[in-house]
Amino acid sequence: MKISMIVAMDEDGCIGKRGNLPWRISSDLSRFRRLTEGDGFNAVVMGRKTWDSLPDSFRPLPERLNIVMSRDTTWSHDDAESALYPGRAIEIAYADGCEECWIIGGGQIYEMFLEHVDEIHLTTVHTSNSGEVFFPVWERKNWIETKIEETEIDEKNEFRTTYSTWKRK
Ligand SMILES: NC(=O)c1ccc[n+]([C@@H]2O[C@H](COP(=O)([O-])OP(=O)(O)OC[C@H]3O[C@@H](n4cnc5c(N)ncnc54)[C@H](OP(=O)(O)O)[C@@H]3O)[C@@H](O)[C@H]2O)c1
Repeated sequence: MKISMIVAMDEDGCIGKRGNLPWRISSDLSRFRRLTEGDGFNAVVMGRKTWDSLPDSFRPLPERLNIVMSRDTTWSHDDAESALYPGRAIEIAYADGCEECWIIGGGQIYEMFLEHVDEIHLTTVHTSNSGEVFFPVWERKNWIETKIEETEIDEKNEFRTTYSTWKRK
């Protein structure tokens, strides 16, 4: 089972503002859905705060096994699995036969899994000062970037973006 990370951040590494995404970038949300759903059955691993941030209509994220990391042993939800530690999240995804396990944030969950992934799907949102939650410190010199796509501003996309994949050297 492949384990991948997906994140959108501004030019300073910011990923969140007051419990939500700081921007409205429709093309990025579509890409997120397409990549994380994939062709088979995949898992998404998120922090409890990110789970709380999802609108009811998007919770659970459809067609994917939703795994929520929480230290609260009483946390439970009919539509998601809960995991107390990173290895447990991976174990659940593997046991359910997932082909790919996507680490989808937020900040605390990226920090926990960064050393365990070999591929990061990154959308850079070309703005700064977006909010107060950040991606962890990341040694980009140890990774190789492949640029995939750039998108421009339009009525559904607040900022210009660059989508690239980063593979560990
Ligand atoms: N730009 C992006 O791509 C992106 C993606 C996802 C999220 N976000 C944004 O990121 C922000 C949320 O990030 P965040 O860092 O505040 O929260 P988070 O990572 O979503 O969730 C934090 C929670 O995860 C649980 N947790 C943390 N470490 C754990 C561990 N070692 N073992 C088990 N559970 C653990 C805890 O839950 P309990 O408190 O229940 O114990 C903790 O409160 C939001 O603004 C969201 O919109 C952005």
